[in-house]
Amino acid sequence: MRDLRVSVTDRCNFRCMYCLPETEAAHNFYRGRWANFPNPAPIARQWQSHEKILTFEEIERVVRIAVGLGIEKIRLTGGEPMLRQELEKLIEKISRIDGIKDLAMTSNGYLFAKKAKMLRDAGLRRISFSMDSLDRENFKKITGRDGLTEVLESIELARQLGMNPVKVNAVVIRGINDHEIESLAEFARQQQLKFRFIEFMPLDSGRAWQKDLVVKGSEILQRLQKRFSLSPVKSDNASETAKRWGFANSNAEIGIIAPVSEPFCGHCNRIRLTADGKVRTCLFSVVEHDLRSHLRGDASDEQIKKFFVDAVWQKEPRHYIGEPQFKQPERSMSCIGG
Ligand code: GTP
Ligand code: 5AD
Ligand code: SF4
Repeated sequence: MRDLRVSVTDRCNFRCMYCLPETEAAHNFYRGRWANFPNPAPIARQWQSHEKILTFEEIERVVRIAVGLGIEKIRLTGGEPMLRQELEKLIEKISRIDGIKDLAMTSNGYLFAKKAKMLRDAGLRRISFSMDSLDRENFKKITGRDGLTEVLESIELARQLGMNPVKVNAVVIRGINDHEIESLAEFARQQQLKFRFIEFMPLDSGRAWQKDLVVKGSEILQRLQKRFSLSPVKSDNASETAKRWGFANSNAEIGIIAPVSEPFCGHCNRIRLTADGKVRTCLFSVVEHDLRSHLRGDASDEQIKKFFVDAVWQKEPRHYIGEPQFKQPERSMSCIGG
């Protein structure tokens, strides 16, 4: 395990169709395709109360101990991490910990510009944004927010601030944004971005995911190869989620993340800490390990270490999507952090 992903809040200011499908547009879409989609749609998430959320001091302690066990990469996630007050203070604390090789964040980009410089100065080196559409109306339909302009500004600002690389993620849903695959790739090429297309996974709060809404990575690639001259980019990191492709005469890259059709669980080196202090050894874990009670009890650093090691030994072998024993986790992506 080298990569710890820390969710700093389960709250979000977006309602993405693949994560928190609570908007009318999301309901209409899923009802139109799925006769059994409940009416009203289920809401499988509830914001955690503030006292359950780990403090910065608690997160810092966990990260320090995890780094002592070999963790090298820290990624801050949410919900939307920018909603956490004084996030820069957490970044500053974490960036001071010896042994961290990479400190990054995943954000929807809507509020990033307000604090971007502060976050960079506090030690944030890398950022990944979500941007599933380049069409203002479609962006609004997918995320529930008229925020394309803000996200485009954030991408530009992150680059100006020297964050490198700036990555952009798009989750592809058939019938929603699959017609934009080529234009998103063209945008990546022009803007010299690392742009990743992600298969839709069954992690949405409405349990609305269906197999036929997944656009397979192989299909995305085939379409892009018809339009662009792409060559594979070699990776020296077996745990990487994306298969990467480069354009001729450009630093831009396309990444295809295909956890559903081409699972990469065997190489997974990631563990996750939820905002309320549970350790998850897989995105699809159905059991969580309650670290918060130990942090708030009188556990020593050694005991926390042992807790981590014991949890990691219980890491799931794979996600089981498409197999009879598959069980969707109780909590949606917004609580887990991607
Ligand atoms: P870097 O590649 O280190 O920059 O991190 P990143 O968070 O930008 O990308 P990463 O490849 O780690 O994650 C991007 C997306 O891939 C996530 O938002 C998830 O949708 C998916 N993903 C990441 N980790 C896993 C995993 O362990 N299992 C599965 N099934 N999907 C994952
Ligand atoms: N399937 C695939 N990716 C998802 N994300 C959120 N929900 C899903 C899902 N159901 C990704 C988004 C975002 C990151 C936090 O997680 O792309 O960038
Ligand atoms: Fe969208 Fe991320 Fe918010 Fe989920 S947590 S609704 S993926 S912005």
